[in-house]
Amino acid sequence: MTVNTTVTVRVPAKVNLQLAVGPGREDGFHDLVNVFHAVSLFDEVTVTEASARRQSPFVSLTARGEMGSHLARVPLDESNLAARAALAVAEETGRGAPVDLHLDKQIPVAGGMAGGSADAAAALVACDRLWGTGLSRERLVELAARLGSDVAFGLVGATAVGTGRGEILEPMPSPGRYRWVFALSKRGLSTADVFREYDRLRPDAPEPRPDRELEKALATGDAVALGRALSNDLQPAALSLLPELERTLEAGRAAGALGALVSGSGPTCAFLVGGGEGSTVVAEREAEVVAALTRTGLCEQVVAADGDVPGATVL
Ligand code: C5P
Repeated sequence: MTVNTTVTVRVPAKVNLQLAVGPGREDGFHDLVNVFHAVSLFDEVTVTEASARRQSPFVSLTARGEMGSHLARVPLDESNLAARAALAVAEETGRGAPVDLHLDKQIPVAGGMAGGSADAAAALVACDRLWGTGLSRERLVELAARLGSDVAFGLVGATAVGTGRGEILEPMPSPGRYRWVFALSKRGLSTADVFREYDRLRPDAPEPRPDRELEKALATGDAVALGRALSNDLQPAALSLLPELERTLEAGRAAGALGALVSGSGPTCAFLVGGGEGSTVVAEREAEVVAALTRTGLCEQVVAADGDVPGATVL
């Protein structure tokens, strides 16, 4: 058997196509109907055996990326969810040894695109491979769900609906490909703060329900219908905490986006610009949306990506 001394796993960002949020639960979480869609903004997570002499820290973290101020928001200690994922594999299996964990980041940080969760999903897969612990997909998904509500989706990718607090996943039929533009904010938003603001704004939130129009749009690959069906119950809370996001959304809509919404708890804004079949019309619309967003001066960066794409993959 080959012994790996280093393993790299590539993992995608997500955008939410529907995020329906119920009332607060007793455990502090909210029941969701959360339609995740994986897009081609990737982080690469590399784990390498640490020198045999090192006993601590168990995980030593470094991060790199070209995303302006975003990188400074990545915690480089054992509070990072990816470091906690490595520890979780070691605890679960009683095996493993100290590692260096390197994050090569493209996914916005604290941006509502599950970057931290994606890194944790990748770290689970990478450590399992590095240590030869052979965890089944089911056990990886269980560990992921314990780490955070969005981590399991990083393992499966594609398009899936999450219920419970978002961690109970069912694949969702979605044969189409879509082209997206993302406006990264200069600021970050804390997921917990956005949910708290949601509770303040919606003390009477109803139980979350699936959206049949969205399901139909995805099943038929209809980009125009998908653009119309996009919805996010957390959007008013994100806009309340960061009102300038309304101007970002409006700029993309006015430039012809088929749909515009805050991704997850924000503040990244997502714009659907067409089906992913690469037509000139889609390319022109994308260029107009990118130019309009750039002109606002509100965005740290504007990037385009395709969806959906697979989940965590060993390179
Ligand atoms: O699960 P995760 O660690 O990503 O959640 C971060 C925070 O977001 C939680 O502490 C909670 O405040 C909020 N949250 C929630 N309901 C969910 C998911 C997250 O209230 N379903």
